[in-house]
Formats: sequence, structure tokens, C-alpha cells
Amino acid sequence: MRKFKKYNSIGKEELIAANKVLKSGKLSEYIAKNNKFFYGGKNIKILEKKVEKKFKVKNAILVNSWTSGLIAIFGALGIKKNDEVILPPWTMSACAASIIFWGGKPVFCDIEKENFCIDPEEIKKKITKKTKAILAVDIFGYPCDLKKINSIARKNKIFVVSDSAQSIGAKYYGKFAGTVADIGGFSLNYHKHINTGEGGIIVTNNHNIAKKCKLLINHAESFVEKSINRKHNLIGFNFRLTELQAAIGIEQFKKLDKIVKKKQKNADYLSKNLKKLKGLIPPIVDKKKFTHAYYMYPLRLDHKIIKTSKNEIFRMLVNEGIPIANRYEDISKLPSILSLSNSYKKQFKIINLLNQKEYLGIKMWAFDFSINDLDYIILKFKKIWDKLDFKR
Ligand SMILES: Cc1ncc(COP(=O)(O)O)c(C=O)c1O
Repeated sequence: MRKFKKYNSIGKEELIAANKVLKSGKLSEYIAKNNKFFYGGKNIKILEKKVEKKFKVKNAILVNSWTSGLIAIFGALGIKKNDEVILPPWTMSACAASIIFWGGKPVFCDIEKENFCIDPEEIKKKITKKTKAILAVDIFGYPCDLKKINSIARKNKIFVVSDSAQSIGAKYYGKFAGTVADIGGFSLNYHKHINTGEGGIIVTNNHNIAKKCKLLINHAESFVEKSINRKHNLIGFNFRLTELQAAIGIEQFKKLDKIVKKKQKNADYLSKNLKKLKGLIPPIVDKKKFTHAYYMYPLRLDHKIIKTSKNEIFRMLVNEGIPIANRYEDISKLPSILSLSNSYKKQFKIINLLNQKEYLGIKMWAFDFSINDLDYIILKFKKIWDKLDFKR
């Protein structure tokens, strides 16, 4: 069976940068004092500035994970007991956990089957007097339709948080995913296109929310902020990234465009070939508005055309050594979240349909595919498609 090269974006540039920090002996430069290091050391500041410049945002804040970033964001937005936040269940558990952490209630809402993102029409049905925010998750590398979502939010005077954990480098109407909401950000964990081992970036144009986030990630101690009273009523944490990670992050950030371009090129090659197979639907990308960062390469089976079950097709693909997933987590069903959300006994039609009958995802995040690898994958799909039963 073919062995695919594992994806690894860490190279000699990161090694040199990390060594420099190690030699300096300053693995972190934060200090709880009224001085220039209160908000982080040299490399933290450099990387934050680079993100602000490239992504055209007023504030970038580094954190030690995107989970920490989400906790800080919901704290900064003032989410409290019984406040509701609308989000999709087809995502990662930290999305709900960060709301529950502040006593808020995750209100789950179904997704659109064409792009796997939260369905704006469904959002409208979930809004109540208690709704304080929408968490729009750019799943698999594809941005949500934020024009529609922002417009719903504006009408109802609520916040939009953009979770682009998986979508760094994707674009929405020419703007970077993550930046087209009140606040958003990215994960820098080991599996993402660029990584610092663990880590995250918060981005926002709202200075007030940014200030609160900076406090929250820093024990909520305001030694240097005159505009926020020292008696502010915030509970804070240590969510800080280290200098070592920031130095690696600077090198990783330089590589982002090249990495995303390669993922897109590979995905386009797959789509060009796989779309010829009866009943197989490659990712739909509205290229006038969006670009896809292809954390995953999501496929759908048209079960109205294909008679063979999804499970059987999945089994055949796995047997041929294709790195593929057949479902994604519906976090509304996690026992820890079930009782604290609106999801008790609720089923999400599109998510069930995708998980049971339609969704298959090639794990783009895990491998650095060559053209030969892609030809191998295409060949195996064709071989399997020759054996499938189709409806008349
Ligand atoms: C959509 C989404 N949100 C949040 C997270 C949490 O990010 P982190 O692992 O950096 O805490 C992830 C992580 O994979 C994710 O995929």
C-alpha cells in the first residue's frame, strides 16, 4: 500500500529561529509590571504586527491555543449565565466549551450541505432575546457566508465571532477568513497549515474588545492600561504564547501563502478528475467570492444516484489505502455538552444526512501529496467506482 509523505511545515528556518531564542535564555518576556513587556516579548510583538499587516486588522493577539482564544473572546464579549450563543454542531468541542465556561448556553443550528458551514436561514430561527452572539465556524478551510451572518447580527444587535481555526489563508470577498466579523481567529496547533505546536491568534478591529482579550489572557491584571480601571471585574488567565513559539510562528507565517497555494493546487487537481465520477460531488467553491484553504478535502456522495452504501464505499477506499474520513463530530451529542445546550433529543437533518449517507473527507491536513500521490488516489477512486451499483 502506498505510503504518503506526512505533512510537516517545520524546517531549518524554524530551527534557526528557535535556537536564537534558546541562546538568549529568554523563553518568555512577559512580566507583570508597568513596562514594555507586559503584553509580551520581542517575537510576540513582531508576529502580532506581521499578522496585523498581512490580514489588514487593527489588533492581533497571540494566545497559547485557539481554545484559550475562544475563552478570552467570550469573556471579553461579556457572555454570562444563560446568555445564548448560536453555533454549528459540526465542529470541534472547544467551540461549545468556551461558551459553557462562562455560563452561556450553546444553541446549535444546522449547516448547509453544499459548504458544511452554519446555515444563515437556520440562524434566524434560533434567535431569542437571550442571544448574545453567533459563532461562525469556517469548517474544513471554507469561509462561512459572513455577509448574510453579519447582517442578521446587526439587525439583532449581537456579536459575530469567526472561528477560522481550520481556515487560515482562505479568503472571503478578497478579505482573509477570520477578519470579517467583530472578532475571530486561528489555531496554530500541530495539525494546522502553520503551527507553533500549540497556539492561536485572535484578530479584531475593535480596540475595546482587543483590550479586554489582552487582559483576560494576562491574569486580567491591568498594570499598563489607563483606560481600563484596575478595579475592572474580570477573571483572567495565563493564556500566553512563549517567545520560543512566537519565533517559530514568525517563520511559519512567512510560509503561509505557499502552503495554501499548494493545498489549493492539489485540491483543484483532485476536483478536475473526481468530478467525472458518477454521483461524486467535489467541494463546491464559489470562486468569485471565496477561496478554500483545504484543511480537509470534503466530498459528497449523491445517494439518489449511487446505490452502494457510503459505509461500503468508505470501506473500499480505506482498503485501498486512501486517507479518508467518513464522518465529522456532531458535538451537540457529546454527553458533557448535551445537557447544557439546546440539543437534548434534537437531530440536525443535514448533519445526519452527511454523516450517514453523503460525507467523505480526504485528510489534506495530514499529508503533503505529490502529483503522483494524487494520481494514485484518483486511480483508486476510479477502480472502486467501476464496482459500484447505481440507481436507474
Ligand atoms: C473549528 C475549531 N475550533 C477550535 C479549535 C481549537 O483549537 P486549538 O486546538 O488550537 O485549541 C479547533 C482545533 O482543531 C478547531 O478545529
